[in-house]
Amino acid sequence: MTEPLPVKKLHGKVAIVTGAASGIGAVTARLFADHGALAVVIADVQDANGREVAASIGSDRCTYIHCDVTDEEQVKSLVDSTVQLYGRLDVMYSNAGIMSATEQTVLELDLSGYDKVMAVNARGMAACVKHAARAMVEKGVRGSIVCTASFTADCGLVGSTDYTMSKHAVLGLVRSASMQLEERGVRVNCVSPGLVATPMVNKYLNVGGEELKTIMAAVYPGSNGMLKEKHVADAVVFLASEESEFVTGQNLVVDGGSGKKSTTLIKS
Ligand SMILES: NC(=O)c1ccc[n+]([C@@H]2O[C@H](COP(=O)([O-])OP(=O)(O)OC[C@H]3O[C@@H](n4cnc5c(N)ncnc54)[C@H](O)[C@@H]3O)[C@@H](O)[C@H]2O)c1
Repeated sequence: MTEPLPVKKLHGKVAIVTGAASGIGAVTARLFADHGALAVVIADVQDANGREVAASIGSDRCTYIHCDVTDEEQVKSLVDSTVQLYGRLDVMYSNAGIMSATEQTVLELDLSGYDKVMAVNARGMAACVKHAARAMVEKGVRGSIVCTASFTADCGLVGSTDYTMSKHAVLGLVRSASMQLEERGVRVNCVSPGLVATPMVNKYLNVGGEELKTIMAAVYPGSNGMLKEKHVADAVVFLASEESEFVTGQNLVVDGGSGKKSTTLIKS
């Protein structure tokens, strides 16, 4: 747990974070708790890691629930259990995602890999938005739904065609859902991180140590250093909180201006 924050932007809120056993999701779940969330429900398929993150936040305000977002029934059950446990749902951070299995151009596109990426990143995201929105509308909660898109959400990449397509889909989901839910008081936005050295990226780039540092230094040459999970988490807290109460349908890019440089790193 970090130092207590002077302003609790999520005081009393009930939140779900998917993909919170690792990387950006884990750091955001911690930040939600630091910002005074009444309850943070961590949802993931990595049970041991998910339980560990939940325990580190504290069992008084954090619970782990196994949920594979590709299974709509599990997503519905995650939302229902949260409402049963805590009375309502204020914030859904739909963040779970996977990378392409191989670095590919469209010439080598493996469509079974494509199906897996789309099942998590596009279909899973849609299921989370759908069931969170239903729970909020049902209880008359003026909730906030935040999705994780990517710097690849509105540009092409030299490889990873399926991943890029899946993140474009997130943008379409957010833009449509935000229009449809506006009158019910439910906001829907997304964050688009630049390259962050999480387990997903380390595995995909298949580099470590010095080589990874060199790559990251090339992406982030400025004096602000590299993009970290916490930078993304801060943007998510803003979108989840009432500070952004008139913001909906937006894609908040958090990349320090690095997006264009990163497009050539994910190569074929
Ligand atoms: N790291 C980056 O550079 C970067 C850049 C842009 C966008 N993103 C996006 O950020 C999000 C978080 O990624 P990360 O970098 O923290 O990676 P990560 O691998 O550290 O975390 C992703 C989490 O999602 C979980 N997950 C995967 N499939 C799931 C499923 N079917 N159901 C439930 N959970 C599942 C994983 O178990 C993992 O805990 C992803 O949507 C990713 O596409 C990451």
